[in-house]
Amino acid sequence: MNIANNKIQFGKHTAEELLDQFGSPLYVYEKETLVRQYERLKDAFKDSDLSILFACKANSNIEILKVFKNLGSGIDAISPGEVFLALQAGFKPEQILLTATNLTREDIEYVLDKNIIVNIDNISMLEEHGELFAGREVSIRINPDIRAGGHSYLETGHRDSKFGLVIEETPRAIELLSKHDATVVGLHQHIGSDITDAGSLLESLDKILAVTLTYDSLRFIDIGGGFKVKYHEDDSETDIADVGSKVSRRFNEFCQKNNRTLRLMIEPGKFLVSESGFLLTKVQSIKGSGKKIIVGTDTGMNHLIRPALYNAYHKIVNASQVDGIREKVEIVGNICESADVLGQERDISGPKVGDTLCIFNAGSYGYSMASTYNARMLPAEILVENGTPRLIRRRQQLEDLLCFNPD
Ligand SMILES: Cc1ncc(COP(=O)(O)O)c(C=O)c1O
Repeated sequence: MNIANNKIQFGKHTAEELLDQFGSPLYVYEKETLVRQYERLKDAFKDSDLSILFACKANSNIEILKVFKNLGSGIDAISPGEVFLALQAGFKPEQILLTATNLTREDIEYVLDKNIIVNIDNISMLEEHGELFAGREVSIRINPDIRAGGHSYLETGHRDSKFGLVIEETPRAIELLSKHDATVVGLHQHIGSDITDAGSLLESLDKILAVTLTYDSLRFIDIGGGFKVKYHEDDSETDIADVGSKVSRRFNEFCQKNNRTLRLMIEPGKFLVSESGFLLTKVQSIKGSGKKIIVGTDTGMNHLIRPALYNAYHKIVNASQVDGIREKVEIVGNICESADVLGQERDISGPKVGDTLCIFNAGSYGYSMASTYNARMLPAEILVENGTPRLIRRRQQLEDLLCFNPD
């Protein structure tokens, strides 16, 4: 993304031209940013024997998956559907780890048939379906009982969360697994999203390493994702160089002291894709009859649910006129919900009907959380590489709304 002649453009194409070509609204991703973020992570953890698994729940477009495959990444999958997409993108089964909650028997059968290692998330899973894991390699998701994350919905590592086995439950898991001759090759944790400092990660790493001592068969420790990016100029981001060096040091010291050879794994989503993505939308109405000016667009919470779901802030810029007389406005979508607000009290260069707005940080948990609520179709997605846009998912058509009908 760059600014030229007071307009936002991608390569040499203005945001407006992209909407003319691909229709509005439109998700735009920049490949250069995906590569840059991946390299930043690799560099930050350069002192460890590291595997990066892209948490593809953040963005599961198959062309984005292929970018990460070509960079050498693996995949953190959350469902059989994500495993399917990862295999279609060309990942090998051994590059994929499934970390899911509340899997059905059919889900487990599907992924085991594809030779994917599954993270054991709870005891019921083993009591009900333990025999499916007979002779298999498995990993265990540990809940280290640590509160971390930028919003209560983003905390996943505390005792009362639905995720993972608390440490006291691990002996029972082992008992059930050994009944079926399953081997524990990995321990996993993901304590939350939008974690800014190394503190909580080191604390949880210590807890998981303490458990590690009881398993001789381990090959890897996966400490999850959760690294934060900036949503606006004054926002903070994870000091990834600091986290990478501190975690690597602690991990290496443990391995040396205990004479263990283990691989460190991380599974970031947002850090890798958030900043690469933008949602472009056209202004459809300006309403000023009440106390505020309300700018209505042709997208909404159906395409980007984060503001409504987490009260998340996404920077919004008038791509048609970046600098101009500023107005305080509320930017809303076209969905029949009062929560359908994309930005409150935004100071932006006075938008007019027909202008193009650019919503930032839309690369993670944007399209992948989108829906057809209100029977609004999903937008197209394009990937810009070396300044050239390429369609990577077509816009839905009205007929697509009927595609699951039985006849
Ligand atoms: C198990 C697991 N791993 C990794 C991630 C990625 O988190 P983030 O996008 O914050 O890096 C998530 C996010 O929900 C997750 O649940």
